[in-house]
Amino acid sequence: MTRIPLNDGWGFTPEFTPALLDPACLEGLEPVRLPHTVKLLPANQFSQQDYQMVSGYARVLRAPAEWQGKYVAVTFDGAAHYAKVYLNGELLAEHNTGYTAFTVDLSETLRWGKDNLLTVELDSRTTLDTPPFGRVVDYMTFGGLYREAWLEVSDRRRISDLFVQGDMDGSLRCEISTEQASGLALLGQVLDGAGEVLAEARIGAEQGALTLRVPDIRPWSLEDPALYFFRAALLAGEDTVDERTVRFGFRRVEFRAEGFFLNGEQVKLRGLNRHQSYPYLGYAAPARAQRLDADILKNELGCNAVRTSHYPQSQHFIDRCDELGLLVFTEMPGWQHIGGEAWKRQAVENVREMVMQYRNHPAIFLWGVRINESPDDDEFYRETNRVAHALDPTRPTSGVRCIKKSSLLEDVYAYNDFIHSGNNRGCDPKASVTPDRSKGYLVSEYNGHMFPTKAGDDEAHRLEHALRHARVLNDVAAQGDIAGGFGWCMFDYNTTRDFGSGDRICYHGVLDQFRNPKLAAAVYASQSEAQPVLAVSSTMDIGEHPACFLGKIAVFTNAPAVRLYKNDELVGTYGPSKDYAALAHPPILTEDTIGGLLEQKEGYAPKTARDVKAVLRAIAQYGQAGMPLRAMLKAAKLMVLHGFTFEEGLRLYNTYMASWGGESVTWRFEGEGCQPVTLTPAEQLRLEVKPDTLTLTDGPTWDMATIRIRALDEHGNLLPYCARAVSLEAEGDIELIGPGSVPLSGGMTGTYVRTLGRAGAGSLTITADGAEPVVLHFTVGKVDL
Ligand code: GAL
Repeated sequence: MTRIPLNDGWGFTPEFTPALLDPACLEGLEPVRLPHTVKLLPANQFSQQDYQMVSGYARVLRAPAEWQGKYVAVTFDGAAHYAKVYLNGELLAEHNTGYTAFTVDLSETLRWGKDNLLTVELDSRTTLDTPPFGRVVDYMTFGGLYREAWLEVSDRRRISDLFVQGDMDGSLRCEISTEQASGLALLGQVLDGAGEVLAEARIGAEQGALTLRVPDIRPWSLEDPALYFFRAALLAGEDTVDERTVRFGFRRVEFRAEGFFLNGEQVKLRGLNRHQSYPYLGYAAPARAQRLDADILKNELGCNAVRTSHYPQSQHFIDRCDELGLLVFTEMPGWQHIGGEAWKRQAVENVREMVMQYRNHPAIFLWGVRINESPDDDEFYRETNRVAHALDPTRPTSGVRCIKKSSLLEDVYAYNDFIHSGNNRGCDPKASVTPDRSKGYLVSEYNGHMFPTKAGDDEAHRLEHALRHARVLNDVAAQGDIAGGFGWCMFDYNTTRDFGSGDRICYHGVLDQFRNPKLAAAVYASQSEAQPVLAVSSTMDIGEHPACFLGKIAVFTNAPAVRLYKNDELVGTYGPSKDYAALAHPPILTEDTIGGLLEQKEGYAPKTARDVKAVLRAIAQYGQAGMPLRAMLKAAKLMVLHGFTFEEGLRLYNTYMASWGGESVTWRFEGEGCQPVTLTPAEQLRLEVKPDTLTLTDGPTWDMATIRIRALDEHGNLLPYCARAVSLEAEGDIELIGPGSVPLSGGMTGTYVRTLGRAGAGSLTITADGAEPVVLHFTVGKVDL
């Protein structure tokens, strides 16, 4: 089988007309490359009406004469949301629902040795009678041929599908589907990454499945995600008439009453939910950006799992999860609503396509076979379960609910637990949610709409957002029989008018939409040992807090303790909070910014220092007039017995508590192995510019670099209220995606640059008033295919 990319050379029009079935149409179309969005959008403040359209794509397809007699088919990996495919004006196929691939056999229709016209009529309207539509949906669904497309050319005697089931013990079963292969033989080989054959077996094509045992394999695990290849060859005598290879892993996934097990070892799932959207592009981001999200989840956020809410996502994303050892819970498309009979038939078909197309990924450990948060519908869900189990006996099924004790037809109960509202438990106990405690149980969402948080919200809000994530993580970790949890959600996403903050964004992410971290990201990052983490919740600026009282300060770190210095003098050493004892690295919480300073600097006895501190704290918290009686009595005692005066109290307050009327303070937090955090009012502004790559490759399709931008002070701290405009200018063989001027929001923003189909070099200049400009130099390679 030869695979030929079909991403280039398309013409696009936002309005499909029958003229697109005529080759003359190509003249008038806008040249585009896949992945493609039907509408490039602003980052926020737009309408879903902008992409309600029936658009058209057309391109020439040259069918060389030597292909005659072969199997030739086109695959679209993602067409949002209802596509009709025509060849030379003849309707060949339709495909409903935009989240799975579909293949159209062109073999009987192509004109050999000639140019053919391939046309796609694409309906991206939310009025379609197909999942997820039918009611409101809390995410934008965009439109476009937003993933890649390719041609497959092979002998008509061919291998049409492989399903490799590798177990941790090295045994393997592979189902090999063939077409027109009767009487032929199949050779199946297992290869390692270096291409060495480790085991092989031969069967007759009619047998359809082979088994093998491979000695000394490395099981696929989170720490060592070893990948292997299975190559199948269809043989006529000694001639190979077709060949197909898939990547897979040897591993065993299992849910038991007490949790999730990978290769027999219990793993607590610590994950986030991911949408597949990007600013400006909607769904239409190419491979590199898809892969980056997996890297961020695993390496920056320390997650071991992700849920692809609420649909199957890019194969590039899942490929990267395979490579990184990041477990994936993937689910059928849908959101709360179940439609009529035709809609349900389509939903079952979506399950079939999901399982067929994704079942070789070792990272996928669970199928979601219910529409997210839908009511019970036993007949419907018996069928989705049946289909998933029939197509994949190796993985359990689940389905995400927002209701307790619903009809459990799946192997695992998944529940969106939004019980946490700040001052209560982080999650409900398993026993109160699931009707069958002998089966596995996980929390599929928490937080989200319970506490939307913008990167630019005030410090107290950002702190509470982070602590809510920490509280739920802690309570999930504390309950042995909860397999784990998936926070809502990885990053802020564009949503419809019925949700969000009015600007078409749901600010539910631990990252912003450009994948910049909010404080809550550090809660996740600090749970892993992958890199030293030390994030302080406060800038320690007095004007950010009522009465200048800094209040609760949280440090999210994987260091065992932090030392706090005030103007280079040690205030104290603080350890993990006991309230989060189930976490590997509980946050460090303190309200004490006085520590031992009263003893050290004022020479007070420890008891007097304690009393003074208590009085100062009470004043800060309640105001002088509202001080509780106990604190009043303490103050009176200090005056009567120790001769404190009002003026002395005021001096102490201003020096140690509020720094009001005195010079600003320099605070420093130190944690073993971590970069110290030095906090003092900023004098300088610097743009931190983080590209995911400076080397782009225009290959099977266009490539894109993700550039994350933050405003930092001279000590490397984020300036959360810096709201400058940032100018972006691309030159050379790259092009900017989105506007050339963007605002910092929460001190952060981002942008993207794309390749233009040619090799060369390009630069991106990033400027903001008061900051040194930053110039990124990109090299662009071109792989000719
Ligand atoms: C859930 C839903 C998610 C998202 C979330 C916000 O009910 O499944 O898609 O809307 O709420 O918290």
